[in-house]
Amino acid sequence: MAPHTPQRSERPGKAMPLLEVHDLFAGYGDNDILRGLSLRVAAGELVAVIGPNGAGKSTLLKTLAGLVRPRGGRIALDGTDITGASTQRIVASGLCYVPQEANVFASLSVWENLTIGAWTAPRALNERARTVVELFPALGQRKRARAGTLSGGERQMLAMAMALMVEPRLLLLDEPSAGLAPALQRLVFDRVREINARGLGILLVEQNARESLALCHRAYVLAMGRVRAEGPGEVLHDDPEIRRLYLGG
Ligand SMILES: Nc1ncnc2c1ncn2[C@@H]1O[C@H](COP(=O)(O)OP(=O)(O)OP(=O)(O)O)[C@@H](O)[C@H]1O
Ligand SMILES: [Mg+2]
Repeated sequence: MAPHTPQRSERPGKAMPLLEVHDLFAGYGDNDILRGLSLRVAAGELVAVIGPNGAGKSTLLKTLAGLVRPRGGRIALDGTDITGASTQRIVASGLCYVPQEANVFASLSVWENLTIGAWTAPRALNERARTVVELFPALGQRKRARAGTLSGGERQMLAMAMALMVEPRLLLLDEPSAGLAPALQRLVFDRVREINARGLGILLVEQNARESLALCHRAYVLAMGRVRAEGPGEVLHDDPEIRRLYLGG
């Protein structure tokens, strides 16, 4: 897929970060998977995380979302410490996580999926759902369809739309383009860009490193549970070592 040129006139400010992760440790059983990981996302910033399989990308998102317990370090959202907080408190404080798989309720309709998760913001539910669906016209046409009958691309759209229903300030996306045909990947990336352009901070984990470096303001390269490189997407994209290791030469 040909990388495209993102139009980025202004970078979001560097003042108070929306998300600040400092020296984070987390893992499973006796294994530490994240080993002193630090990163930040500014308000309205689109930040990509790339890295090899098993580097800990999904573990990072799960830890930020409160599904894996941090063993050390600090996570702050808008300056408030949420290290070790419940998922409920984390969502209520403005962070929403879209897992790679099992991210919709297959037996419920599209509309039910949209309205069921928005418990943190019950007011004006239908109006909000209509606004969200405007971003994803394909969903509008399939409101009554069971989510289990959607195509892979439509399902990813629905999962993102569900996240938007809680009106988060920071969205964590785990490989939204995985398993999709190139045309659908493009559609997903376009939506990610548009959601970000509306002011939402996004932390995007992607296997499509080339595309996500073209899309993001900044990126982190993860290896062995740590940040190995960071910088503007275009700088990492042109770095010979990053190219060799992650972009296929
Ligand atoms: N629930 C779990 N229990 C034990 N080990 C796990 C669990 N989930 C992940 N791991 C291990 O943690 C390491 C990091 O996994 P993680 O899913 O975070 O990697 P990733 O960077 O998202 O990889 P991928 O690109 O393949 O999605 C791997 O070695 C994996 O086997
Ligand atoms: Mg993963």
